[in-house]
Amino acid sequence: MKAIYPGSFDPVTAGHLDIIERSARIFDHVVVSVAVNIEKKPMFTVAERVKMLKNACRHLDNVEVDYFHGLLVNYVVSREAKVVVKGLRAVSDFEFEFQMSLMNRRISEEVETLFMMTSAENSFLSSRLVKEMAMFGASLEGLVPKEVELRIIEKLKQ
Ligand code: PNS
Repeated sequence: MKAIYPGSFDPVTAGHLDIIERSARIFDHVVVSVAVNIEKKPMFTVAERVKMLKNACRHLDNVEVDYFHGLLVNYVVSREAKVVVKGLRAVSDFEFEFQMSLMNRRISEEVETLFMMTSAENSFLSSRLVKEMAMFGASLEGLVPKEVELRIIEKLKQ
């Protein structure tokens, strides 16, 4: 079975990679897909986010990286999938994720959202915090792939 793992991935973190690797063990095929235009001022372009994800997922044969415009549900149907995977870090994630999954189901009853609990060591991690840490010169070791750390530093210099 195919699953879609959508997100902003601005940029991909160790938390995202944990969800991707665990999903890849469960599903035959996982499509990690970058949502276009959901954030007004992302640090990275969609092409940059896709590239970083592709490099980070190189070791996973059944993982594909893609991007989508518009509604997630329409994209999922267009990819002939029925399952969306989402990571949950804390109760604070739950409310919004619950809302989105119900809204998505309202649009298409065919699409199910499956939530995967984050690993404990990533429960505090987010792309936003990673960028903030980098802005103040903190080390990102273990929080993002090395390439992503270097690209964030490069972006901040621009
Ligand atoms: O990584 P994020 O920012 O938590 O991902 C959120 C994302 C991109 C999965 C969500 O905003 C989304 O599905 N956007 C696509 C537009 C859409 O379908 N919106 C309606 C959701 S109810």
